[in-house]
Amino acid sequence: MNTGTAETVSAKEKLIVALDFESADEALRLYGELRDAAGMFKVGSQLFTTAGPDLVRRLVNEGARIFLDLKFHDIPNTVAATAREAVRLGVALFNVHAAGGTEMMRRAADATAEEAARLGVQKPSLIGVTVLTSMDSDVLSETGVEAASVEEQVRRLARLADAAGLDGVVASPHEIVPVRESVGRAGFLVVTPGITPSAAAYADQKRVTSPAEAVRRGADFVVVGRAILNSPDPRRAARAVVEEMENGRIS
Ligand code: C5P
Repeated sequence: MNTGTAETVSAKEKLIVALDFESADEALRLYGELRDAAGMFKVGSQLFTTAGPDLVRRLVNEGARIFLDLKFHDIPNTVAATAREAVRLGVALFNVHAAGGTEMMRRAADATAEEAARLGVQKPSLIGVTVLTSMDSDVLSETGVEAASVEEQVRRLARLADAAGLDGVVASPHEIVPVRESVGRAGFLVVTPGITPSAAAYADQKRVTSPAEAVRRGADFVVVGRAILNSPDPRRAARAVVEEMENGRIS
């Protein structure tokens, strides 16, 4: 694993900036501006669909640590083959849907380790998406998942991901503590999106979770997009997030 743990990683290394752009040029421009201000950069489905693996290779060649956020979910053979491609791309972190089940996750984890060993490169961390933050218990129920609550389903999928050999999970700020309770293993990564730095709180948000609060609750990494991307001064915004995390750790 090359993503480290909460104890050994500086606040800057914990910040993942989401490159949620519609073109490679915009993503490269922002990376150039923030390359020394964050630990990792996230390429999600929008940017990947428009700019493809060439952009990922280019960012990696320029020294970027990339979180490839494509949430793979397919038959085990296909996900294992795709995991090998993610290793070849040189990403530091990527993910699959834990709802794909134990065999899918295990095959992906095994393929990741095998390919990294074959190439003699550091193994990327592989994490599981539990329940999307856009889903509530009604949506889960609609799809046939009759869990007692979203939290119960998150706990279940986090345990499954751990047992299948994954390195961690993606979890909303509200689920960090339940995940830590459910999976006691030291080094199990929790990557948390849905973070709003206090300086950028959106007017319509009733409950915000700051970077400091996410770290206090046990997040290893926080993913921040619009609060940095939409700022008139993205470097300053990124620095503010890092400072909030540092302060959160002290208190
Ligand atoms: O909200 P923000 O722009 O910071 O989101 C950054 C990234 O985190 C996005 O790429 C989005 O996919 C992800 N996200 C999420 N769950 C949320 C909010 C954002 O997975 N509740």
